[in-house]
Amino acid sequence: MKIVGFVGSLRRASFSGAVMDTLIELAPDGMEIERLSIGDLPLYNADLKEDGSPRVVIDLAEKVRGADGVLIVTPEYNRSFSGVLKNALDWISTEPGMPFSGKPTVVVSQSIGLRGGALANYHLRQVLSVIGAAILTGPEAAVASSSDLVTDGRIEDERTRKRLAKELEMLAEAVRRAA
Ligand code: FNR
Repeated sequence: MKIVGFVGSLRRASFSGAVMDTLIELAPDGMEIERLSIGDLPLYNADLKEDGSPRVVIDLAEKVRGADGVLIVTPEYNRSFSGVLKNALDWISTEPGMPFSGKPTVVVSQSIGLRGGALANYHLRQVLSVIGAAILTGPEAAVASSSDLVTDGRIEDERTRKRLAKELEMLAEAVRRAA
């Protein structure tokens, strides 16, 4: 079971990255999560597609097409998800064959605040629904007070780890159902 992971922050010590690394660590048997790099994408500009899309975009879209599922961790910026993540989704959505179409997709938000980026979480769901992702519903996974939970680039808090592991179980189940 191949899952591609997007992190909506480019910061080296990003808490979103720490959540993703924790998810990778918690992946159940048979699930492989590959974190995709979105920091080297240019800002979306249709002119750049005139002679064919940039290689980095073609490769990203191909990874998404080839995946069984998608996992996204985003911070909340001004009550939405991050611009770098939107840029990546916009690029991939313009590639042939609606790469996200029908892909079981889990959304996790995080924030240093008390709501865990719940508004970013729902804003992201709105965008994902337009590009055809099969978004997993249910209570959103929103990691609050993330700066208090991360140690050495990982979430160590047991309750949060259990919550994240539950998301991965749900994703694995959705991938099995879609097969
Ligand atoms: C934020 N932050 C933030 N937090 C929140 O809960 N709600 C919000 O609306 C915002 N808005 C916001 C805007 C901008 C421009 C920045 C830079 C930050 C705080 C933010 O979620 C927090 O710093 C995250 O930890 C950033 O994610 P990474 O880089 O740690 O993954």
